[in-house]
Amino acid sequence: MSGLAIRNVKKSYGAVNIIHGVDVDIADGEFVILVGPSGCGKSTLLRMIAGLEEITGGEISIGGRVVNNLQPKDRDIAMVFQNYALYPQMTVAQNMGFALELAGVKRPEIDRKVAEAAEILSLQPLLSRKPAQLSGGQRQRVAMGRAIVRDPKVFLFDEPLSNLDAKLRVKMRAEIKALHQRLKTTIVYVTHDQIEAMTMADKIVVLQGGKVEQIGTPLELYDRPQNVFVAGFMGSPAMNFLEGRLTGGSQPRLTLASGTSIELLAGVVDAEGKDVIVGIRPEDIAFATEGGLSATVSVVEPTGSETHVALEVEGKELTWVMRERASLTPGQKVQLSLKTKNIHVFDKATQQRITA
Ligand SMILES: Nc1ncnc2c1ncn2[C@@H]1O[C@H](COP(=O)(O)OP(=O)(O)OP(=O)(O)O)[C@@H](O)[C@H]1O
Ligand SMILES: [Mg+2]
Repeated sequence: MSGLAIRNVKKSYGAVNIIHGVDVDIADGEFVILVGPSGCGKSTLLRMIAGLEEITGGEISIGGRVVNNLQPKDRDIAMVFQNYALYPQMTVAQNMGFALELAGVKRPEIDRKVAEAAEILSLQPLLSRKPAQLSGGQRQRVAMGRAIVRDPKVFLFDEPLSNLDAKLRVKMRAEIKALHQRLKTTIVYVTHDQIEAMTMADKIVVLQGGKVEQIGTPLELYDRPQNVFVAGFMGSPAMNFLEGRLTGGSQPRLTLASGTSIELLAGVVDAEGKDVIVGIRPEDIAFATEGGLSATVSVVEPTGSETHVALEVEGKELTWVMRERASLTPGQKVQLSLKTKNIHVFDKATQQRITA
């Protein structure tokens, strides 16, 4: 049993509160990603799990045991940092075995564990090289190897891929996911990259300003964001937002400032007259067959597989991701319809979701 429970955990530095009572449950073997903007407290939370940072309030347990007062070395966790700082004078094998050596593990046991980790990470041909003779991705794998040899209950990763170029990041993403499927060890992984979170996690915790905004599977967060922050944070290009008022009673419509109104789905009937923010994913826009929203094309960006179109609608910029090819030109006027069944409606005052 090596799940993790984070209960009402708080952190302050002097009088400044950084983490405001965070609750997260992580099941044994689960891959959980903490995501959120810079400064929201991701690293602080991870460092508190590791024991590198004292907890101001609340409780953290690992495998059912409260670890608040345990030294990092007694918590049975291994952490991989963004700056993985390999020892330059040691070989790959020595780097991987060093922690075990310090812990007094016998040589044959060290060699066996290093060989095992090297096999998992395809590092066998590189074991006698020095870090300077490795690529960025290989160094990152050695850093993971150092963690694996310790056979911990929980792996903690703090932005391990942010020093790598885009292509290598995608490759390492897949490698880490495969590694998790193979080892089935609990992982808590920090990133500010929501695509990394979407593609790797079993469960995502979205943080903002030291508070949990939402916890869910990647698709739960994408399909049913509970508030405007999560809606705007998850997804790339980001969700579009339009502000207006709900009208129309049992056949709800969104009426924009200009008086233009668009049909919404039934299911928001209790909010008649409310000021709302309506969210539309860039892929949920289409050409209108009749009526619709008037828009002007401002920028067209073909990516090959799809086209990103920046549009202006009543003074607001919207992004449209078109999967089919269309010859649009800047300045062109178009009529748009919104896929109403995928529309997200939020209360403007509370920023909370009001659609089912
Ligand atoms: N030792 C410290 N003393 C005072 N404030 C700190 C200290 N360490 C971190 N902070 C503050 O705590 C907040 C959270 O920092 P943290 O490093 O956890 O953010 P983060 O979410 O990991 O951000 P990033 O994505 O930039 O790494 C920040 O506002 C930071 O300035
Ligand atoms: Mg950080």
